[in-house]
Amino acid sequence: MFAVPRGTSDILPDAVPFWETLESKARKICKSYGYREIRTPVYEDINLFKRSLGQTSDVVNKQLLEISPIASPSKSLLESPVQESNYALRPEGTASVVRSYIENNLDGKESLSKLFYLGPMFRGERPQKGRLRQFHQIGVEAIGPNSTSPFLDAELIALAMHLLKELGVKGSRLKINSLGSKEDKAAISTWLRGELGRHKSELCEDCQSRFERNIFRVLDCKKETCRNIVNQVVKNLPLSTESQIYFDQVRTALTNAGVVFEVAPHLVRGLDYYTNTVFEISAEGLGSQDAVGAGGRYNGLVHELGGNEKIDYGAIGFALGIERILLARGQESGVLPGPDVFVIAMKEEYHPQAFLLLQQLRLAGISADMSFVASSMKSLMGKANKANARFALILGEDEIKNQTVALKDMKASSQETVAVKDIVYVLQARVARS
Ligand code: HAM
Repeated sequence: MFAVPRGTSDILPDAVPFWETLESKARKICKSYGYREIRTPVYEDINLFKRSLGQTSDVVNKQLLEISPIASPSKSLLESPVQESNYALRPEGTASVVRSYIENNLDGKESLSKLFYLGPMFRGERPQKGRLRQFHQIGVEAIGPNSTSPFLDAELIALAMHLLKELGVKGSRLKINSLGSKEDKAAISTWLRGELGRHKSELCEDCQSRFERNIFRVLDCKKETCRNIVNQVVKNLPLSTESQIYFDQVRTALTNAGVVFEVAPHLVRGLDYYTNTVFEISAEGLGSQDAVGAGGRYNGLVHELGGNEKIDYGAIGFALGIERILLARGQESGVLPGPDVFVIAMKEEYHPQAFLLLQQLRLAGISADMSFVASSMKSLMGKANKANARFALILGEDEIKNQTVALKDMKASSQETVAVKDIVYVLQARVARS
């Protein structure tokens, strides 16, 4: 017997309505802020991710799920055998959106591209509560020439908080920080080497390697010894005056918009592309994987991926994890919506008339279902109830003889006889009212 792959899960029909509601609310809110949906492939050239997320990031080093061609070219997973480049399932959406932005010359078509996406992401992580190998994100990106504005940072962060509130996540906490510009990051890296260098031998093994590869990551180590050292020596990241002013403006804009936040000087994020503003949102009830969403500015990425060198691009975005949103807000209860009508044929020989009726209703926009297994009236009524149908249409001996149907209102428990020729119109009116 086959099982669902580790770290993935089936979203069963009973859960799908909650996903649908969540997705449609998310789409509506994103659109209300002027963002438009973009859909990119679930796999891309592996080098796109390596170049964007950074060779030192965990996602690139340990978690990329590579798609390799099957040995025989004729049986290749892909249409043509992969030659010079390989592919990987997308671990996140930002790299793909920037690739698409450049490839489709969106910068020539609009001054600011405000984009959002919903869909599955893939990371070869060790699965645990809230950490999956296939998970889903709601992501938002704003990219454009000369579009670095503290108000755009504030807009994105406010949108993330608005989404979480509307999607039912309670007790979310927003932490923000600034890593400074690309030039600041280089200077801060040197400064950190000096400050943390004196304690290098006391750092954990991972941090000793991070010290060499990407010293910023030492700041968010969860181990107590590393935390103590970091708390002692790094009070704030030394930003240039320009970056400090920008960060102050973002904070003021957030405060004015009523967004509650705390400044977290050690928040650095795990992907390399970030500059200036970074943020992370945690929620209660998630255990150790408590980040429900995160994001930040990534002004350098468009150039890094081949964007026009003459243009000064600004870019910022975030992504929320849908499974973590569902975990944080707890199990939803409630009755799942059923069909408008459940057709009941009291004898198997009435199935042709019942099926005809069923299709007429569906084509008229009325959702309808029936049981194709002959059974007793009691059992069929039980099925209509279980399906949570609003109305039952009963075809018995008298009805077939008189070209009528018995229309039962399942809520009111009332029943009436309607001519077959009128039933579609009668139900259209009733369904529209209920
Ligand atoms: P990220 O922090 O890697 O950022 O992921 C964003 C969110 O996706 C996390 O806060 C979490 O809710 C969810 N998530 C990540 N990994 C997993 C996993 N293995 N299982 C379940 N949920 C997970 C990004 O992906 C960036 N692209 C965000 C961004 C957009 N930055 C700028 N633009």
